[in-house]
Amino acid sequence: MIKIKVIDPQKPDQVEDVDLSPETMLNQECLIGRFVNCDLVLDSVEVSRRHGKISKKNGTYYFADLASRCGSRINGENAHINQDYLIKPGDTIQIARFFLMILHIGVEENITKLEENIPKLEESTTQREVPKRIEEPLSPQFKSPTIPEQAAIAPPISPEKYMPVAVVEPLQLQRWVKGELAVRCIDIIDETYDVRTFRFVADPPVLFTYKPGQFVTLDLEINDEEVSRSYSISSTPSRPHTLEITVKRVPPPPNSGDETPRGLVSNWLHENVTVGSKIKLDGPHGKFTCFANPCQKLLLISAGSGITPMMSMSRWLCDTGANCNVIFFHCARSPRDIIFRQELELMSARHPNFHLAVSTTRKEPGHTWLSLTGRLDATMLQVVAPDFYDRTVYVCGPDAFMESVNQMMESLNFPMQNYYEESFGPPRKKRQSAESKQKDSISPVHTPTPTVQQNWKDMFNLPARPVAESNGDSPVAASKPVPTPTPPLSKPASSSKTAVVFSKSGKEVACDGEEPILNLAEQEGVKIRSSCRSGVCGTCKKRKLEGEVKGEGEPDVLEESELQEGYILTCISYPIGRVVIDA
Ligand SMILES: Cc1cc2nc3c(=O)[nH]c(=O)nc-3n(C[C@H](O)[C@H](O)[C@H](O)COP(=O)(O)OP(=O)(O)OC[C@H]3O[C@@H](n4cnc5c(N)ncnc54)[C@H](O)[C@@H]3O)c2cc1C
Ligand code: FES
Repeated sequence: MIKIKVIDPQKPDQVEDVDLSPETMLNQECLIGRFVNCDLVLDSVEVSRRHGKISKKNGTYYFADLASRCGSRINGENAHINQDYLIKPGDTIQIARFFLMILHIGVEENITKLEENIPKLEESTTQREVPKRIEEPLSPQFKSPTIPEQAAIAPPISPEKYMPVAVVEPLQLQRWVKGELAVRCIDIIDETYDVRTFRFVADPPVLFTYKPGQFVTLDLEINDEEVSRSYSISSTPSRPHTLEITVKRVPPPPNSGDETPRGLVSNWLHENVTVGSKIKLDGPHGKFTCFANPCQKLLLISAGSGITPMMSMSRWLCDTGANCNVIFFHCARSPRDIIFRQELELMSARHPNFHLAVSTTRKEPGHTWLSLTGRLDATMLQVVAPDFYDRTVYVCGPDAFMESVNQMMESLNFPMQNYYEESFGPPRKKRQSAESKQKDSISPVHTPTPTVQQNWKDMFNLPARPVAESNGDSPVAASKPVPTPTPPLSKPASSSKTAVVFSKSGKEVACDGEEPILNLAEQEGVKIRSSCRSGVCGTCKKRKLEGEVKGEGEPDVLEESELQEGYILTCISYPIGRVVIDA
């Protein structure tokens, strides 16, 4: 028989003395673990179901760790798995947070003497001392280095700290599906000289559940101001234990002068978030996802940081064994600006259905670039994806890039119901119809000349474009197919009765209907969270209690139920007459 004192530092008043008698067992061993059938049950998720055992062989007692998840320690030393360690009174076995003190083996009179050496339970675990040995040195089977008398045992490191997911039963892991969540940064990856990926986990761990291509909104406090910005989730839901965003530093606009501040949040994240930082995010949001529109052939087109939702979709497609042929075209400034370059090359090498094409627009001195160069045009599209007409297309990138791709696809008679785009910034101005362009003299900066259009059509032998689609108008709202044109926004006529009432704040502001409600709120000091200010992210949504508004673009990011409840996107909504907002 072996007498053990079981100490749980979390329950210092519940010290237990346990007798184990391996000699009475069929196989001469007693099991220790979390499983209820164990002879000594240690009830904690950190403890493996069958963690270790005490056995008796030839009249001697041994402890062995049964390949537990978090390991065991004997007198402060890590125990090798499945190896017998001879144990004697005075030895301490540590299993997760539990200390098992060997009080007595066989002979009753040693008990009292040993108990004198047991540290007081009130002492913190960091102060705990190794009990003094009272017998001869350990047998050669346990080659412990000399443990100095009174030496302190290192504070136990909970396995939660180094393998948090391993201590939770898979079925007990919580899913993060929607809402706010505090996350902790565990890795920072430099993708390029000005782009970083931040990898996050939650404490306790969760399974991040979202659709590839969706985004989260970070809520931060910078310079005592609350700010929100949205970032696409660049990781994939097929690897749900972590969530990543990939952020590009935003410089001041070109030729904007020294006084212009650079991008606030992107630079702040680069300079302030370190491993261990905690931030709050909200999401997932967005409908820009191939998940919603299953298809057999995809064409992903991105430029700059617009690569992030495409990366999530690509990783997800590859991970989930989708039988979908993907052409991923990415446009970067120079080879050193290509985000995720190595991983994309690897994916293309390992997945026969995944084809990568990268074009760079600038030469990099001293570097050879053997791939495509220049901007995406119809000729390049034909080279990269000759069957583009059969593909579902997703586009994300800077505004000018998206504008030109959208125009090009329209002029190629691409079926725009299979065309999806997401903007990271302010909305592009709606283009006018070809007819109205002729009528007024707005400069057709992005409009290909008829000759070029004709050449493209000849080149691709395109069908005649249906009359209804021929006016070239395209909605600019993000993550929506672009099937039919919508009339350009005509802002509400000025009216002296136009006013916005912010019901919660008790403020009313008279206006001319030319300012979005978000701007009016800010002018009046009414707090409304915002991020993209362009109707993309949904951060600024508020309930309209009364009145009418006119919207610039489609409030695509709002759910049908939210629309029915009266929610509007205040950044793109203009009051018509008197409007009451729940803010
Ligand atoms: C759905 C969605 C997904 C997104 N995903 C990503 C992503 O994956 N990766 C990514 O990097 N970004 C992404 N973005 C963009 C991101 O949300 C931010 O817009 C971006 O990081 C810039 O934010 P910022 O705070 O750094 O810049 P801001 O402070 O908002 O500034 C933007 C620009 O305005 C200029 N500016 C600021 N103040 C002034 C002033 N007073 N006068 C003149 N100019 C001024 C700045 O110099 C800068 O050029 C996404 C956006 C959306 C809507
Ligand atoms: S701030 Fe993004 S939708 Fe209004």
